[in-house]
Amino acid sequence: MSIQRTLSIIKPDATTRNLTGSINARFEQAGLKIVAQKRLQLAKAQAEKFYEVHKDKAFYNSLCEYMSSAPVVVQVLSGEDAIAKNRQIMGATNPANAEIGTIRRDFAQDIERNSVHGSDSEENAALEIAFFFSQLEIVE
Ligand code: CMP
Repeated sequence: MSIQRTLSIIKPDATTRNLTGSINARFEQAGLKIVAQKRLQLAKAQAEKFYEVHKDKAFYNSLCEYMSSAPVVVQVLSGEDAIAKNRQIMGATNPANAEIGTIRRDFAQDIERNSVHGSDSEENAALEIAFFFSQLEIVE
């Protein structure tokens, strides 16, 4: 275990339902620190770039339309084992399979409108953090 950083996105379904504070409380209660945060609206081309790894999937176009449909809150979470811890707090991608007490089980609307994104590896965390933030914007 080590101190890690991970990229988190509070998605349009959650920002439009005013759930940013409720979701942030879950991170803080679990011991993750929000060391950078901003609210922005992605252009569709930016969503396509961020989710490029999924470009061959049937849901790619719909996902990018959705992610650029309303504001998101992008953030860097820091803490012990932050990548795995955040994925535990978020729950499974499909809220129908997410454990009770997880963000997605409690807030998500469906497999696409699943309220949050979190990096899945150290390598992707570094790439995803750099996609949205400069080093100057991240303060421990
Ligand atoms: P996320 O963790 O951000 O990673 C990719 C996103 O694609 C995922 O959350 C969902 O929002 C979406 N997604 C994944 N699988 C599906 C699916 N089968 N149908 C629709 N959207 C999906």
